Amino acid sequence: MKILVTGGTGFIGSHTVVELQDKGFEVVIVDNLSNSIFEVLDKITTISGKRPLFENFNLVDPAATADFFNRHSDLKAVIHFAAFKAVGESVQFPLLYYRNNIGSLVNILQGMTDHAITDIVFSSSCTVYGQPDQLPVKEDAPIQKANSPYGNTKQISEEIITDLSNSANIRAILLRYFNPIGAHESALIGELPLGVPNNLMPYITQTAIGKREFLRVWGNDYNTPDGTPIRDYIHVVDLAKAHVVAMERMIGNKMKKNVEMFNLATGNGSSVMEVIQSFERTSGLKLDYRILERRLGDIEKVWADTTFANEELGWKAERTLDDMTRSAWNWEKALANK
Ligand code: UFG
Repeated sequence: MKILVTGGTGFIGSHTVVELQDKGFEVVIVDNLSNSIFEVLDKITTISGKRPLFENFNLVDPAATADFFNRHSDLKAVIHFAAFKAVGESVQFPLLYYRNNIGSLVNILQGMTDHAITDIVFSSSCTVYGQPDQLPVKEDAPIQKANSPYGNTKQISEEIITDLSNSANIRAILLRYFNPIGAHESALIGELPLGVPNNLMPYITQTAIGKREFLRVWGNDYNTPDGTPIRDYIHVVDLAKAHVVAMERMIGNKMKKNVEMFNLATGNGSSVMEVIQSFERTSGLKLDYRILERRLGDIEKVWADTTFANEELGWKAERTLDDMTRSAWNWEKALANK
């Protein structure tokens, strides 16, 4: 059972490749290493005892993508992670985001239809919900106007896949991730942000290790119990396992519709302060942080209703916030020891 994993050396991709190989899938990674490093392949190999196939090219290139599909027409399915994901950067360089995230998806779908490959799992985001009117947010909540070009690429991608499924023999599972953090328990793979991290967890661990002076907490005047924004953080290993479950559902012909969407989350919201407290508890350190003004574009609170994913997929996130902060810290320490 050969699966294409685009972006397979990235944060979520690498953890998913490990879980897929663990279940006996044969994996081909396509990644141009624009936000990851070649060494991740060695780490995946160490964890799995098996080296995935790897090709380095840009999926935005139609000819290279078509050539890939010609050589791998025996693929059973695709998991598409490869995309740019920095919200602020997308506001600054929207065309970069539209060309990369939409262009690559179109090329992949073309390759799939040309070779009668029917199944795709797509990395979507809770960003499609914006600030939901009702919490916890369910999969059928209204899609809100995206507040960044990045978010818009996720909405448009969901629409492109849905449109195609109406006219071509394509089935898709759209997985809407909430906030993935943490790292593999081996501390061999984890998040590798380029430059200064935008996201909370790597900023916390880089502050604790001494790479950053202090954590800037973006506002504590929100309408939440401690004033800091609430997110539904999910352990990346739980998230990776959900991709395997989704894949088995597709190829086992258990889907109830041509396109299904699931929230991947724990169902529990945590505030920024609660994440800091968890980090301090699991690391035994005191974190230097300062409260600053709100960050532009941040929503106040979002957490998921996971009932549909739990019942339909038979999958549930098992790891706690402490498991997430502990593994993220072990990974940061492992990086520092290199
Ligand atoms: N935060 C800080 N300081 C930091 C970084 C983050 O206080 O240095 C706070 C943010 O204000 C926010 C929370 O930590 O309240 C989480 O912020 P992240 O940047 O880690 O995550 P976001 O929820 O902003 O963004 C994530 C993904 C995006 C996705 C979005 C959807 O990174 O790709 O969820 O809501 F679009």
